[in-house]
Amino acid sequence: MNLLNFYDNPRIRRAISRIADPRRVRILFVCLGNICRSPAAEGLMRQSVAENSTEERWIIDSAGTGGYHIGQLPDPRMRAHARRRGLELDHRCRQVSESDFDDFDLIIAMDNSNYSNLRRLAPSPEAQEKILQMAEFFDSVTSCDHVPDPYYDGADGFELVLDLLTAATRNLRDTVEANSLA
Ligand code: 4NP
Repeated sequence: MNLLNFYDNPRIRRAISRIADPRRVRILFVCLGNICRSPAAEGLMRQSVAENSTEERWIIDSAGTGGYHIGQLPDPRMRAHARRRGLELDHRCRQVSESDFDDFDLIIAMDNSNYSNLRRLAPSPEAQEKILQMAEFFDSVTSCDHVPDPYYDGADGFELVLDLLTAATRNLRDTVEANSLA
């Protein structure tokens, strides 16, 4: 993996350069329901920063553009697939709100629909620049251009999401740490 490839993306470069305090990077993962993809991304990001002992530098959360499952734990299927990889997902579902644009430096959308909804919710052009797509951090070998919604899929869909997110959260961690953190 070549980290330069990610940082060469002007959208990524601009968002990282605007991180308010590089010693404390606040990142929010967003999908539709906040019970499958974004809580998995949150858990994998925590695992990823624990791997290189930088967890104290990160504030990590997730939210959904929809409000269908507020207060619930992640989908039992996602929890089971994650558990097999040593990951306990105990996030409680919440809906994204305008104040999240003050509370987070980077807001990572799982697909185009989440991305458009977040752009509409952003209170300013500067706030819009905090929004990136998870796919911008995919390994170049993947044929996916978004994180597919696994809700109506079988086991393969959940495994694919976890595979995509494992690589993308590592790439995101490494790109931010190489280009912003002291
Ligand atoms: P997620 O998956 O956006 O990855 O959490 C979904 C979960 C629930 C629904 C849609 C997507 N739903 O319509 O209830």
